[in-house]
Amino acid sequence: MTARIIDGRAFAATVRERVAQHVSLLKQEHGVTPGLAVVLVGEDPASQVYVRSKGKQTVDVGMNSYEHRLAADTTETELLGLIQQLNVDPAVHGILVQLPLPAHLNEALVINAIDAAKDVDGFHISNVGRLATGQKAMVPCTPLGCLMMLREYCGDLSGLNAVVIGRSNIVGKPMAQLLLKDSCTVTVAHSRTRNLPEVLKGADIIVAAVGRPGFVLGEWIKPGATVIDVGINRIEQGDAKARLVGDVDFDSAREIAGAITPVPGGVGPMTIACLLANTVTACCRAHALPEPVGLVA
Ligand code: GUN
Repeated sequence: MTARIIDGRAFAATVRERVAQHVSLLKQEHGVTPGLAVVLVGEDPASQVYVRSKGKQTVDVGMNSYEHRLAADTTETELLGLIQQLNVDPAVHGILVQLPLPAHLNEALVINAIDAAKDVDGFHISNVGRLATGQKAMVPCTPLGCLMMLREYCGDLSGLNAVVIGRSNIVGKPMAQLLLKDSCTVTVAHSRTRNLPEVLKGADIIVAAVGRPGFVLGEWIKPGATVIDVGINRIEQGDAKARLVGDVDFDSAREIAGAITPVPGGVGPMTIACLLANTVTACCRAHALPEPVGLVA
């Protein structure tokens, strides 16, 4: 069997189209334009690329984008002051502080200063707790994107065996919570799990987010399983351009799995699309309007 390849670029385009339609409806019927504020502290080159891309995609779907670029030596008091301003600004429905922050800034303190209702990253401690207790929450973008793809490719997830490999706060843990909420039987494995092949034997769904290139082998996968590869590992190749590979050994896995996301072009493109989706959701909730169908967890 050769797996269906889950095209994350095409799926992300579909999500952006849904977002754009909802934005248009919010503008026309309610006179509201969703707004996303992105805060970048310092000049980290990778973060600058991400922030530019987020701003462009925000504008492309018809939303307002507010970019705040602060110097690397910005004090915590200055940054908290800006967050407070954005918290009370009615034109701003989503706030994202790009991570990592310079070392002198306390990341947890900064993230938890964001109004939880505007926390489109889903990193605020109150959103983490709300997701864990099954209350309405803002959900981290990468696991939300994975969930959308799984619902699309597997249909109803109820009763399926899911193994999440990785226990990070940003992907592994929220992914497990989302799969539980959709009534999967969830196992969380990680780099120290003993006998991972045995754990994976019964998995209808595998979400790999462990940060190790080619860690999951095809022979460990249950035939027909759906495999979501969150890993983005750079493999240096001497003078040639670095190659990106996932946490799953794609060539062997595609011969066994029923469907699989490639790297690149799988989960990656979904993350910003889900950030836009979360901004629309936050806007709808702020105005007590119905939530956007197909864009929430
Ligand atoms: N840096 C890299 N990815 C992310 C993300 O998803 N959110 C934030 N805030 N910072 C990041």
